[in-house]
Amino acid sequence: MKKIVIITGANSGIGKEAALRFAIDDFNVVMACRNIQKSEKVRDEIIRLSGNSNVRLMMLDMASFNSIKEFTDRFKEEYPKLDILINNAGYFEHGAKYKLSENGIELTFATNAVGPFLLTTLLIDSLKKSDDPRVLNASSNIIKHFFSPKKQIDFANLQGIKDKGYKHSVYNSYRNSKIALLMLTFRMAKKYEESNVKFFSLQINGARMSKETLRKFKMPWRLVAHIQNLFFPHPSYMANNYFEICTSAKYKDITGKHFNDKLEVMKVAPENPALKDILGTSVYPVYADRKDEQEAVIRLCEELASEYFIQ
Ligand SMILES: NC(=O)c1ccc[n+]([C@@H]2O[C@H](COP(=O)([O-])OP(=O)(O)OC[C@H]3O[C@@H](n4cnc5c(N)ncnc54)[C@H](OP(=O)(O)O)[C@@H]3O)[C@@H](O)[C@H]2O)c1
Repeated sequence: MKKIVIITGANSGIGKEAALRFAIDDFNVVMACRNIQKSEKVRDEIIRLSGNSNVRLMMLDMASFNSIKEFTDRFKEEYPKLDILINNAGYFEHGAKYKLSENGIELTFATNAVGPFLLTTLLIDSLKKSDDPRVLNASSNIIKHFFSPKKQIDFANLQGIKDKGYKHSVYNSYRNSKIALLMLTFRMAKKYEESNVKFFSLQINGARMSKETLRKFKMPWRLVAHIQNLFFPHPSYMANNYFEICTSAKYKDITGKHFNDKLEVMKVAPENPALKDILGTSVYPVYADRKDEQEAVIRLCEELASEYFIQ
């Protein structure tokens, strides 16, 4: 039977290129996207370019627990197993105000951390039916901010603004969500180490943004993103990394690993990292490795989404 891969946010950027890469390799590809109408064109293009008609579009809003539950129920009814899950979808909106998801969670954290946690948890039984199941989470260079010993996830303001002195910053929200996703990778690898499911994370340091993504940004951030794009590789570069991590025999027997864009396994940084550590991509902040902080992140996700699964 053909291998089955789910890629969230597969209608643009790295997710779209990854869907094409897996389709070319004759996978059964499920593009899990929140806007079906605009994603249909992308699915048709992937089918045309790959010659693989087993590319399916399914509705999934990562910021909504109901949507995640409906998606996974439908997936499980229709597919006997899942081989690869790529939590690629990511929300980041320059200049955006503080917003809550329909479940009352800060929107960036809901989309980029709690959503992937719930989606993965609800798909664990399907993954266990594969002979080589792998989960890949899309992290970001933004986690480097946690090299500063003062940085911590701002748990207090994740469910509404509780601190009088709170000043919203999309960068804070984004970095909280991406370090939490890395911590979930480590913590879920441990939680499911008795099973055959393997967990990985990729630290993305830049991929050229599509015209559509650029249009989502207001000025002056759009201009900044245009300039960044001059230095970023084509998204197919990261999509190839997704493909390697999820298919290479090299990674079949390891789990809980965080890769850089050269596909080197990153190590935890020393408590006092040197400048070369901070500027380079060989180590990640020690904060992500703290067991108590990892526990706090997974507990929070479990509590927030508890109605949707039996623990
Ligand atoms: N590009 C970079 O330089 C860079 C750097 C570091 C990390 N990353 C990470 O890499 C991943 C892919 O980014 P990209 O550059 O390919 O960005 P992109 O082209 O903007 O794609 C993001 C995708 O996520 C989807 N998405 C956002 N919120 C969603 C939700 N609530 N439910 C379902 N899908 C949702 C978007 O759907 P819509 O089209 O409907 O909005 C889109 O398909 C993200 O996780 C991002 O954080 C990217």
